[in-house]
Amino acid sequence: MSGTDGGLVKCSSFPCATPENDTRDTSTTIVLDHGDPTMYESYWRKMGNKCDITFSGDDSLSYFANGKSLCWFLESKLEEQIKRLHSVVGNAIVDDHNIVVGTGSSQLVQAALYALSPSDQLEPISVVSATPFYSAYPVVTDFVRSGLHKWAGDARAFEKYGPYIELITSPNNPDGIIREPVVNGDQGKLIYDLAYYWPQYTAITSPANHDIMLFTISKCIGHAGSRIGWALVKDKEVAMKMTKFMEISTIGVSKEAQLRAAKILEVGVKKRIVKSFLKNTRFKQGVEEDLEVIQEMLG
Ligand SMILES: Cc1ncc(COP(=O)(O)O)c(C=O)c1O
Repeated sequence: MSGTDGGLVKCSSFPCATPENDTRDTSTTIVLDHGDPTMYESYWRKMGNKCDITFSGDDSLSYFANGKSLCWFLESKLEEQIKRLHSVVGNAIVDDHNIVVGTGSSQLVQAALYALSPSDQLEPISVVSATPFYSAYPVVTDFVRSGLHKWAGDARAFEKYGPYIELITSPNNPDGIIREPVVNGDQGKLIYDLAYYWPQYTAITSPANHDIMLFTISKCIGHAGSRIGWALVKDKEVAMKMTKFMEISTIGVSKEAQLRAAKILEVGVKKRIVKSFLKNTRFKQGVEEDLEVIQEMLG
C-alpha cells in the first residue's frame, strides 16, 4: 500500500496537444490508493524452478511448528533464513531479539499495538506518527475500536502528557526519509516499521537495534502475496503478548507461506552478492536502476 490517501490522479500523457477533431482520451490514470510491489517479477521469473517447493497431503497438519521459538507457530526454516538474511545484509541485530512471525507486517502492527497498550488504564493509549505517515496506521489503530489504543494523529503536534505509542517508519512511506522518534515524552513506547530498511531503498549505515522492529518480505523481495512479515522484539513479555494476539486472531500463520518464504530467501539471497553490493554500489534512484540493484543483490 502507498502512504497516500486513496484517490485517482489524472495526468496528461504525451503528446500534450491533440488535434481538435480527435476525441480519443489520451489522459493517464494513476491510482494512488495502493501500491503493489510486483516490480521484482521479472527477476523471479528468471529464477525458473529454483524456488519451487512441494507439499504432500500429510505435510504441515499440526497447528504447531517444529521449532523451539517462543513464537510457537514460527517454522524453524523461516527463523533460520530471517537470521541469515539480517546477518548478510547487516540491517538489524537479531541475536538478542525474539522473532514473531505474522500474516504480513500489517498484522504485526496490530499485534505490537495490542502488546504495548496498558490494559489497566481508563483511557485508550494515544498512537501517533509524524506526517506524512503510512496511510494504514490510523485505520489499523482504530478499526476495531478496542478501547486499548486510539489514533491521535501527527506525532509533531502531540503534546499530551502521559503514555503514548509512536510509529516510526524508516525509510518513511511515502517520502523515503530516514526517521527518528519525534515526540519528546518520557512515557513513549516505540514501534519501528522497517519495511523499507533494505539496501535497494536506502543506504544501510548500521544495523538497527530497537526494542520492536517490523519487517516484511513484501518490500524486501516482493512476495507480498505470501503475506509473511516478522517482528524482532527485545522484551520477552512483549513478544509473548504479540504471539498471543496472533494466536487469538488467526491461531498462527500459514505454514505453507512460511516454508515458501524460507525457500525463496534461501535460494534468492546470496551472501557474496549482497556483500559486494553493499561494499561497491552507491544507492541508485529510479525504478529501472533500483530493479538492477536488487537483481544484482539477489544474485
Ligand atoms: C511502511 C509499511 N509498513 C507495512 C506495510 C504492510 O506490509 P505487509 O504486506 O507486510 O502487510 C506497508 C505496505 O505498503 C508499508 O508501506
